[in-house]
Amino acid sequence: MSQLALIDGKPIIADSFTPAQTIGEEELSVATEVLKSGNLSGFFGSWSDRFYGGPQVRKFEEEWASLFQTKHAISFNSWTSGLVAAVGAIGISPGDEVIVSPWTMTASAAAILAWNAIPVFADISPKTYNLCPESVLKSITPRTKAIMMPLIFGSAGGLIEVKRIAEENGLILIEDAAQTPYVRTEGRWAGTIGDIGGFSLNYHKHIHTGEGGMAVTNNAEYAEKMRLIRNHGEAVVEDKGHEDITNCLGFNFRLGEIEAAIGRVQLGKLPNVVERRYYAGKNLAKMLEDLPGIRLPLIDQEISHAFYIFAIGLDLEVMGVSRNTIVAALQAEGVPWVYGGYQNIHLQPMYQRKVAYGRDSFPWNLHPEEEHPDYEKGICPVAEKLHDQEVICLQICQHDYDTRQTELVGEAFLKVWKNLEELRGWESAQSSPVKGNP
Ligand SMILES: Cc1ncc(COP(=O)(O)O)c(C=O)c1O
Repeated sequence: MSQLALIDGKPIIADSFTPAQTIGEEELSVATEVLKSGNLSGFFGSWSDRFYGGPQVRKFEEEWASLFQTKHAISFNSWTSGLVAAVGAIGISPGDEVIVSPWTMTASAAAILAWNAIPVFADISPKTYNLCPESVLKSITPRTKAIMMPLIFGSAGGLIEVKRIAEENGLILIEDAAQTPYVRTEGRWAGTIGDIGGFSLNYHKHIHTGEGGMAVTNNAEYAEKMRLIRNHGEAVVEDKGHEDITNCLGFNFRLGEIEAAIGRVQLGKLPNVVERRYYAGKNLAKMLEDLPGIRLPLIDQEISHAFYIFAIGLDLEVMGVSRNTIVAALQAEGVPWVYGGYQNIHLQPMYQRKVAYGRDSFPWNLHPEEEHPDYEKGICPVAEKLHDQEVICLQICQHDYDTRQTELVGEAFLKVWKNLEELRGWESAQSSPVKGNP
């Protein structure tokens, strides 16, 4: 009889983990207060004292700026909105190129296209899963205006090197720290090192307001431009006397008062939530460190990883069994939120067919076809191989991961590795390949 639950053994984890829950009585109380006030949004889309939002929004922004030691924090109704505002605020023009990673949530690249600028995908590092500095350097052309650096999974690995490249080449750096709040690198907060950075407050993140986002910057001009883009800038610039109206086309990207009030309470919980994930990730890494064929996340300093996702790279030659079979075995052991692969944005139909606005390849058609960036499979070999074959993602942010749960997940890994020989035999007996995300 097999030990492995995938075959006919008993799973290590019998009960499902309860989903992470950061919302409690305090959030209920502040949301109720706002409801009682009847003032659910303090914004007006015109130049008045309500242009910058209501009292909860303003306090939320002040408190965020203070915690992250930045001059400005600008709230949004999502970080997707924040990303669009950030790309607009740097004065991007149609046809400008922005270097971005294929390993991110789709909005990091879509925000570039939103201003008719052109995403150029650089490869990632197999150690950090963030942009590879050498690949960024190779992707720079005379049209490059900025680098959009997603800090993926909770790690700011490679950020300092990419910042140096941006400075040396006169490029603007936007950090997409959606998954990486309250993480330090070289003594500074991830998200605050580039020209603009920001965080997601959607329901799946470390702390949340249901939907929401927060941009941070020390640049007053970028901050004000983001506020104009957030709140119908075109209707505001004249009365405000705002001289530089570049990209002041505005939207309604405003955060509500209830969400802001909840966000203020959540912000108070952030250090503790991230610290818990960090120690869970670190303890899990300790349990797995001697397993053959495994590359663990980089944890180089204290609280240097928020462990939104605990990503594991496999050396397939050592393993002798496919990544998807290992994922299936871990899932059968009851490990929650574990899956094979992550993303390869450049392979989405929009990039493959270069169809974003209308049918004529706009904005790519602003330039001669031979100068269009290449989005073919093969342009980001590291990202593609990791996604297709080598990476396992464990989305630990979905649960609280107390000591016992961390141990159980570690034990599930140890059990699968102990029975690799049997797993190899099981895999070769299958009539069709195992899927990564059954
Ligand atoms: C890396 C990254 N960028 C951007 C976003 C978009 O954030 P939001 O869902 O708040 O719009 C996300 C959300 O998951 C993300 O993970």
